Amino acid sequence: MANIQILDKTFKPYIKEADILKKVEELGALLSDQYRDRNPLLISILNGSFMFTSDLMKLLTIPCEVSFVKLASYHGTQSTGQVNTIIGMEKDIKGRAVLIIEDIIDTGNTLAAFLPTLAAFEPASVEVISLISKPKALKHPIKIAQTCFEIPNDFIVGYGLDYDGYGRNLRDIFVISE
Ligand code: IMP
Ligand code: MG
Repeated sequence: MANIQILDKTFKPYIKEADILKKVEELGALLSDQYRDRNPLLISILNGSFMFTSDLMKLLTIPCEVSFVKLASYHGTQSTGQVNTIIGMEKDIKGRAVLIIEDIIDTGNTLAAFLPTLAAFEPASVEVISLISKPKALKHPIKIAQTCFEIPNDFIVGYGLDYDGYGRNLRDIFVISE
């Protein structure tokens, strides 16, 4: 597979679509088992998680619901550390088994701001599910229940993840090449 150019940066192939989907399938089976009879509510963090949420939800074989919230902390390739206002959260989540669906957990700033807000709505349980995590970048004691890929501290695009708004439509994941 060839390198790609997005705006001023070059990215090289990193994780193939087939490898992503294989992991998502395993995760779907695991969660279908763990959340049987618990009617989980998936809370998908926009924008990056839309593709992962869609693929994962199709692989859940149990009754489940989804809701979308938006809270961005990123500009370009750097986390600003500032979480903007939370938009969404219209669902009644009191007493629900909540699954937070993230595309990637980097510094953890986004979730460190969101999790206390969520707790105030009194869900029965909350678990964080992230397609990708960057353990070395994590700055908060956030427990990630499931992650499909742990990667070094490199900037990636594709499968919903963007560089300044572009690259979300790529089926594979690409990593920035220095
Ligand atoms: P955090 O608040 O630093 O954990 O960053 C969380 C959000 O930043 C993720 O949900 C992504 O939307 C975005 N993000 C973090 N790392 C990357 C990356 O490598 N590529 C694209 N977006 C990223
Ligand atoms: Mg995100």
